[in-house]
Amino acid sequence: MCPRLWVRRSTRPFSLVFGCTALIAGTAAAQVRVASPDGRNQVTFQIRDGRAYYDLQRDGRALILPSLLGFEFRGAAPLRDGLRITDTTRDTHDETWTQPWGEVARVRDHHNELAVSLEETGSPNRRFTVRIRAFDDGIGFRYELPEQPALGDFEISDELTEFTLADNARAWWIASNWPRKDRSEELFSSGPVSTLDSVQTPLTMETRDGRTFMVIHEANLVDYARMFLAGPRMEGRTLRAALAPMADGIKVRGRTPFMSPWRTIQVADRVTDLAPSVLGLNLNPPNVLPSTAWIKPMKYVGIWWGMHINTMTWSSGPKHGATTANAKRYIDFAAANGFGGVLVEGWNVGWDGDWIANRNAFSFTQAYPDYDLAEVARYARQKGVRLIVHNETSGGIQNYERQLDSAFALYHSLGVDAIKTGYVTDLTSEGHSHYSQFMVRHYRHVIEEAAKYGIAVDVHEPMHDTGERRTYPNMLSREGARGQEYNAWSGDGGNPPEHETILFFTRLLDGPMDFTPGIFDLLERSSGHAHRPEEPRVRTTLAKQLALYVVLYSPVQMAADLPGNYDRQPAFQFIRDVAVDWDTTRVLAGQIGDYVVVARRERGGPTWFIGAITDEERRTLDVPLSFLSPGRRYVAEIYADGPKANWFDNPFPVSITRQAVTSATRLRLVLAPGGGQAIRIRPAR
Ligand code: NOJ
Repeated sequence: MCPRLWVRRSTRPFSLVFGCTALIAGTAAAQVRVASPDGRNQVTFQIRDGRAYYDLQRDGRALILPSLLGFEFRGAAPLRDGLRITDTTRDTHDETWTQPWGEVARVRDHHNELAVSLEETGSPNRRFTVRIRAFDDGIGFRYELPEQPALGDFEISDELTEFTLADNARAWWIASNWPRKDRSEELFSSGPVSTLDSVQTPLTMETRDGRTFMVIHEANLVDYARMFLAGPRMEGRTLRAALAPMADGIKVRGRTPFMSPWRTIQVADRVTDLAPSVLGLNLNPPNVLPSTAWIKPMKYVGIWWGMHINTMTWSSGPKHGATTANAKRYIDFAAANGFGGVLVEGWNVGWDGDWIANRNAFSFTQAYPDYDLAEVARYARQKGVRLIVHNETSGGIQNYERQLDSAFALYHSLGVDAIKTGYVTDLTSEGHSHYSQFMVRHYRHVIEEAAKYGIAVDVHEPMHDTGERRTYPNMLSREGARGQEYNAWSGDGGNPPEHETILFFTRLLDGPMDFTPGIFDLLERSSGHAHRPEEPRVRTTLAKQLALYVVLYSPVQMAADLPGNYDRQPAFQFIRDVAVDWDTTRVLAGQIGDYVVVARRERGGPTWFIGAITDEERRTLDVPLSFLSPGRRYVAEIYADGPKANWFDNPFPVSITRQAVTSATRLRLVLAPGGGQAIRIRPAR
C-alpha cells in the first residue's frame, strides 16, 4: 500500500501528494499525484506498461481520463515506451504579482508542483521530465528534455500528448483549417467532443450535466510549433496535440536542454468563472522589461475602416487614405476627443498591385510621396497623440526581419512607441505554416526587438496568445479571431449576432483582442451605396457596439468608424468615457453563445463600467450592483437599446438615461435582439 503524505505548511494542512513511486518505480504500474491548493483538482501521473499517462479529477470526478504523453522524432525512436519513474520533486508556490496593465491589476499564482523524472529502461536510456502544476483554476504540464548524450539535436515529428475527455462535453470550436493554415478568423461551431475533427485552442467545453467548464490551451509558446487538437472524428473522446509543421514537415527542431510550452486545462464550476483567465499568465515568466511605464493602454482611431468599406485605398492613387493631411485630421480628431492614438495604414511603399503576392516588396521605412512620416509623427507629438505605425508583412518574413532594425530605429527616432503588424497570408514566403515553429520564433523576435526600441505591438493575424504579455508587456493586443472587419467585406454577410457572446468565452480567454468596435454607421451607408439586406453590414444594434468596449477586453480599443460618423452622436460620449485598463473584472452573468454581462472597475479609480450583450434573442437581465462600495452613492449613465431597436431593421435607437444607484440597486437590463447595453457608474458628486 502506498502511504498518504500529509504536509503541514503555515497553519493549513493540505494533502500535497499521494505518492508511492519510490516504492514501485520500474514495475508495471507506478503513480504519483498532485492536487491544487484547494484540493479540488488532482492530477495523477502514472506509468502503465511502460508508457506515461496523466489524468485529471475535480472533486474526485474524472474530467480527463488517463491520457498518453510522449514524442515521436525523425530519425530516432519515439520517446514513449519502456519508461520508468526515476525521481519526483515537489514544490508549492504562493505569490501575488501586479500586471502593468490588464483585466485585473493583481494576479495570484498559487499552485502545487510535481516534477516527474523519467527514463527509458532500454537503450538509449533517454531521460525527460514532466512538470505538472495544479492551481485552483486548472492545471498545466510541460515536457523538459535535459541535456544528455543520447538526446542532443532533435526533430519532433509529432507530440503524442492526448486529452481524453471523460464526458462527451459540448465544445465551442473553430476548425484548424488544414490545409489552409493561416487563420483563426472563423465563426464558431458547437457540438459534442466526439464529433470534433481538427480544432484550434483555446477550446472551451461544458460537461453535459453543466457542472464543469474546461478550456484546453497552451502557455509560454516560445520556440515550438503552435498546438492544435486533432479530434476523434466520431470515435471516442480523445483529442490529440497536433503541431503546425514547417516547410519540410518537421514540427519542432531543438537541442537539449529544451522545454515544451505548457499544456493547460482551465477548470471552472460556472461559466462566469472562466474569465478573467490568468492560468496562462501564471505559467509565463515574469516581466523582463526594465521599465513598463511607457506602455500605455489607449483608445485610438485610424485611417482604416475607409479601406475596408472601399472609400479609401491602402495603395497610392486618388483614394489614397494615408496622406499627410488626412493623418493630421485624424490626429486632430483624436486630440479633441481624448483618444491616445492614431493608426495609419497604407503609408508605406508596397501596397500597389497585388500586395499579398508582392509581399517582399514592402518597405517599412519608405513612405508614399503624399505621406510625410516625420511631419505626421511631429504633429502627433505636438498634439499629445501617439502615432501607431502599420507594418503589414503579408507573410514576407525575411523581408520584414531584414528591415526590423532600421524600421524600429526610425520609428523610435520619431517618438513612435506603438506599431500594428499584419500577416495576411496562407503560407509565409519561405513556405512555412503560419503557426509553425518558424513563425513562433518570428513573432517572439518582433516582440523582443520592439521592446529594445521602446515599441509596443498590436498584431493582426497573430500567433495565438499564450500569455507572452506577462514577460513582455509591450505585447499589447492582437486580433486572432473574426473581428469587426468581417462586417465590412465578408461574403457571408458579416458576423452573426451571437458571435461576440462566443468570443468572450473562447478566444478572449487567452488574451486581449483588437476587435475594433464602435461602428455607428451600422448599415455602412458611408461606403457610398444604399444598403441591401444581403450586403455586408454590422449585425448589432448601436448600443451593442458600445457594450463591446467593456465586454471584449483589449488595452488598445479602436473607435473604428470614420470620424464623421460620430458627429452629433450623443452615444459617442460613452466611447470617450470608457476606460481601457482595469483593476477588477467580474463576469456577472452569461451563457456561451447567448449573452454575457461584464463589470469592470477602471485602473486606479472608483468608476465602474458594465457591458451587456445578447445574441439574436431579446433578453431582460436582472443585475445586482452589489460589487459597488457599500454606502457610497453613484450615478449610472445608461446607454440602452432604444424603443423597438433590433439589429435587423432598426439598429440605431439608443436611449441615454441617468439613474442614482448604490450597491443595493438591482438594474433591469433590457437588451434588444442583437443588442446590448453599456453603463458607466461613477461616484455621485
Ligand atoms: C487584416 C487586418 O486585420 C486589418 O486590420 C488590416 O487593415 C489589413 N489586414 C491590412 O493590413
